[in-house]
Amino acid sequence: MTTDDRDTIAPETTETAAAATTNRKQPFPAGFLDSISTGWAQRPASLPAQRPEAAYTAARRARVSAAFPGARLVIPAGSYKQRSNDTDYPFRAHSAFSHLTGWGADAVPDSLLVFEPTGDGHDVTLYLRERADRTTTEFYADATIGEFWIGPRPALDAVAADLGIPTAHIDAFESTAEDRSVDVDDELTRFVSEMRLVKDPYEIAQMRLAVEATGRGFDDIIAELPRIVDTRRGERAIEGVFHLRARTDGNGEGYDTIAASGPHACYLHWTRNDGAVVPGDLVLIDAGVEVDSLYTADITRTLPVSGTFSAVQRRIYDAVVEAADAAFAAARPGVKFRTIHEAAMAVIAARTAEWGLLPVSAEEALDADRGGQHRRYMVHGTSHHLGIDVHDCAQARREMYYDGELEAGMVFTIEPGLYFQIDDLTVPEEFRGIGVRIEDDILMTADGPVNLSADIPRTADEVEAWIARGRA
Ligand code: GLY
Ligand code: MN
Ligand code: MN
Repeated sequence: MTTDDRDTIAPETTETAAAATTNRKQPFPAGFLDSISTGWAQRPASLPAQRPEAAYTAARRARVSAAFPGARLVIPAGSYKQRSNDTDYPFRAHSAFSHLTGWGADAVPDSLLVFEPTGDGHDVTLYLRERADRTTTEFYADATIGEFWIGPRPALDAVAADLGIPTAHIDAFESTAEDRSVDVDDELTRFVSEMRLVKDPYEIAQMRLAVEATGRGFDDIIAELPRIVDTRRGERAIEGVFHLRARTDGNGEGYDTIAASGPHACYLHWTRNDGAVVPGDLVLIDAGVEVDSLYTADITRTLPVSGTFSAVQRRIYDAVVEAADAAFAAARPGVKFRTIHEAAMAVIAARTAEWGLLPVSAEEALDADRGGQHRRYMVHGTSHHLGIDVHDCAQARREMYYDGELEAGMVFTIEPGLYFQIDDLTVPEEFRGIGVRIEDDILMTADGPVNLSADIPRTADEVEAWIARGRA
């Protein structure tokens, strides 16, 4: 959407009157226009201190520069996306842009990070639309970017000091034919995605913050559970409680919360969240806090709404814990990423076969060509990389990701589940409508995996005790 499309309260000059489509525009009288640009205090001259991640982002840019000698690289922050009419979704910068600049929740839309080739590397410049002078109509009449409307915007020198990157006004950016080189675009997209597979110490610290903050959100849901049950759409209340904790702590969320009660838990990405939360059912909650740097947690807990698991719920729950524990035990540096999934699926196949759900043995179900019968009850993967995106490193090559080896510094989920849909005639009636997922965020170290979310109760007994404490 261009600013011209905006239904702003703009001055009725000849030019804007001609373009006006609004039915609620007020003219700005001469007295307003004569005075609006004056009487403002000087902006502070002091510059912000460089943010601590700047040293890490400089190292990342150096790696990109070394990988693309002689190429001109343009990495956009992206733009607002329209929600409806003149409302947009909250802006969220492209992950590669944030990773290379350190500009997270406060990034200015439509900025560009440009690597201009020089003799022995690149000159890197961050182009952005600097705030307009207060003598311009942008200041008071542009609802998209005017400071009167959206609040203070940074100056070029402040951004340069903050991020440690030279800046220039976006109007000084000149695109060239090479910017559009598809070859480099594809290679660059892949490179910046693969560069995120192994996290640096700053990123790991951010992940820890995101996981801790997510734990607080889950604690609040537990404490509110008795009141949530009493609401018309308890799933929305769960979503709201998590959101309130995230916002109260000053954070955001990395993806739409899944609050899936009863049979909804079997819909893997249930975000409609319009159901009741009913005692006797399980409720599956998959939620993650995103911190300012945009690193996000991705954690799932499945709770018995009444406070205690029924025998069949516990049997299914324990099988998922067993699958998660097997996956964790299989994860260590040097083994393939897919080993994690294989370890979890061996448990899922064994348990579903033992319960008589499969038309074949567990061994046959695990056959790479003819098997897979158990996957009806867990169609998703067990793990994905996690970081600035919830499904991080999405453009990495398969040989670097699923078929790649685990390394110290990788952060990924372990999230097996079992889902017996309400109308699945292949399972006993008592299983139908039960869905369980347990999702933890794992840091690989040289000594093996560390469960970053281990403090959030996880086993059936721990979860029951957690709910009991919430009610005490
Ligand atoms: N929250 C989405 C996922 O677990 O992958
Ligand atoms: Mn996940
Ligand atoms: Mn998740």
